[in-house]
Amino acid sequence: MGIRFIEKNRSFKLDAKNTSYIIAIVDDENFLGHVYFGEKVTDDDLNYLMRIYEAPFVPSKNNRDRVPFYDSFPFEYSNHGIGDYRESAIKILDKNGHSYIKLQYKSHEIYKGKKEIKDLPSTYGNEEECTSLEINCIDSFLNIEVILIYTVFENLDVITRSVKVKNLGEDNIILEKVLSTCVTLEGVDYDMITLNGSWARERHIQRKAIGYGKQGVSSIRGESSHQHNPFIALVDKNATDDYGNVYGFNFVYSGNFIAQAEGCQFDTTRVVMGINPEDFRWILNKNEEFIAPEVVMVYSNEGTGKMTRTFHDLYRNNLIRGEYKDKKRPILINNWEATYFDFNTSKLIDIAKEASSLGIEMLVMDDGWFGKRNADNSSLGDWFINEEKISGGLKYLVDEVNKLGMDFGIWIEPEMISEESQLFKKHPDWCIQIPGRKPALCREQYVLDFSRKEIVDHIYKEIKNVISSANIKYIKWDMNRQLSDLGSYLLDKEHQGELFHRYVLGVYYMMDKLTKDFPDILLENCSGGGARFDPGMLYYSPQIWCSDDTDAIERLKIQEGTSMVYPLSTIGAHVSDCPNHTVGRTTPFETRGYVALAGTFGYELDVTRIPEEDRKMIPKQVEMYHKYNDLIRRGDYYRLENYSENNEFDAWQVVSKEKDEVLVTCIQVLGRPNYHSRRIKLKGLEKSKLYKNIETEEVLSGSALMNAGINLTSLYGDFKGKIIYLKEV
Ligand code: GLA
Repeated sequence: MGIRFIEKNRSFKLDAKNTSYIIAIVDDENFLGHVYFGEKVTDDDLNYLMRIYEAPFVPSKNNRDRVPFYDSFPFEYSNHGIGDYRESAIKILDKNGHSYIKLQYKSHEIYKGKKEIKDLPSTYGNEEECTSLEINCIDSFLNIEVILIYTVFENLDVITRSVKVKNLGEDNIILEKVLSTCVTLEGVDYDMITLNGSWARERHIQRKAIGYGKQGVSSIRGESSHQHNPFIALVDKNATDDYGNVYGFNFVYSGNFIAQAEGCQFDTTRVVMGINPEDFRWILNKNEEFIAPEVVMVYSNEGTGKMTRTFHDLYRNNLIRGEYKDKKRPILINNWEATYFDFNTSKLIDIAKEASSLGIEMLVMDDGWFGKRNADNSSLGDWFINEEKISGGLKYLVDEVNKLGMDFGIWIEPEMISEESQLFKKHPDWCIQIPGRKPALCREQYVLDFSRKEIVDHIYKEIKNVISSANIKYIKWDMNRQLSDLGSYLLDKEHQGELFHRYVLGVYYMMDKLTKDFPDILLENCSGGGARFDPGMLYYSPQIWCSDDTDAIERLKIQEGTSMVYPLSTIGAHVSDCPNHTVGRTTPFETRGYVALAGTFGYELDVTRIPEEDRKMIPKQVEMYHKYNDLIRRGDYYRLENYSENNEFDAWQVVSKEKDEVLVTCIQVLGRPNYHSRRIKLKGLEKSKLYKNIETEEVLSGSALMNAGINLTSLYGDFKGKIIYLKEV
């Protein structure tokens, strides 16, 4: 059993594969204290770690009613307004406007398996895989119940948390903050890893020392964002990819968030994660409940590499669902960088003809097929075919493409509305806006008020009509701006603060309908590239367009950061034309293929117009994809060399679960003059197994490959790449 209640010292012991997480109920006050989080321990009583009789500057043992105690006690879920001045996890306003909450243990329940979280995405697991714990806490003055929900994935180093708040009192209360996790780590000497960037350079890895005070990342943009991913890891100062304690936190949510570490006065670090309290206010009426989204916590005693592989295993097996959960994805060609808005039926068919002859399996028609859309300034919301461009209609086009042996996919952006659209003329009040003020445009578009069910239902109906009218096998769901001018026509003034969260719930509601009605369609998420690359989205779509930046060299940093948490099988990656449209760089076609191979793999170019020598390479790349994709999709990923650290060279490796197949990819960004071969040491192999390099036919043991390494010869020039494939003999 992964969770036990130990009567003797009233503690809860949560044991994952190699992780223990301990919580205790403290004496008569029934506070919940955080005892331990780290490598598995066998002991049942570590309650001394809470130091409950050591409130630092009060020399008496009898100081339990005093503020200093509250301010040093490691609350398992921090209270507000009672004298704990560190970050609170929950903040409530009562009917008189007072802001305080003091939670005390009331009861608990331990059960096998894991419950769904209503209306929200979450990880899932069966009774063999996980055990859950619900601890009911109460503020009996307010009559508010707070249920802390934990699940242990017993064969992984994963513990998930979420929180449910119930109003059992007579009066309405206002929730001003409900975070999803709060953990106390001993010491403040940690490094913090976050994934940051901007449009076209998402999720670059940043590692920096934390100390005293609050530091972290957040989003207030209505989506998880290009700027900061809802991920934070605290790692030992000397931790590496292979060594040291690592605590990773990832938020299963696609809207505003905070992820924060606070170095506190008595040398502890309080880590919190949850919905960003800024612009959040939720009215909880009598008998209502509010559920905060899930946080996934991963502990690794073997550095960041093991944390990465744990996240990958969890997301591949216990988050992603549906037909494509573990299926090879079709190699697609997307027309965005090929044509932008300038396309029609015959141009698309020309691309499809050429693409199908080269082995590409699906054509995706991107933005510009609906309403009167010929640029980004019109027609969002008018979800009907633009027959001037798509002459003969959608079904004709799809049938023609199908005749070529290819599947067909389509782009949509359901959450948006253009000022220049039939929908806006009819329903100007449907976009998010503050009545009386003109909302800010971004990419010439407004955001639809997805907190309103009738709006989501209308958009869904229109889009469903289009999808059902032809043989559509793939959808790219885009979201090309952030939210601003927060105001909803339907919500009254008390409820306006609910808009951000209600918006996200509206998006999930439509995604749920779409994936249930069309279970066979492959859904790819996208948000101006990778602004919504989060586990919330992965629950609905098994892959996400990683970035609008398709340059192979830029992608090294973007994909390396993304794969810190998210499996390679989820990373939308395409070979595009050069000079690259975003950065103007020219890289060898071969290298572009190697980099895209570490993702979903596809093309984003006009295959009828690229240089002949590039085109000739496509069948080889297609073959390579079919040969290695099972391994890449399912295997264990290892970072070998980081271009973001050394500015010269990048290498990564995927090893099959059986440890009988290995693929190493090396990208030489800058060549080094007058230098012998580079030595690369492989990782994660079986020491005693013998592996054959399929190209050179050399045979070496796992121990030699990992400890002595291999020489990587003859990469002459910048931006050069090479793959090395080894198989057990
Ligand atoms: C976003 C996407 C692109 C493309 C355009 C279309 O930027 O990330 O891939 O679909 O929108 O407008």
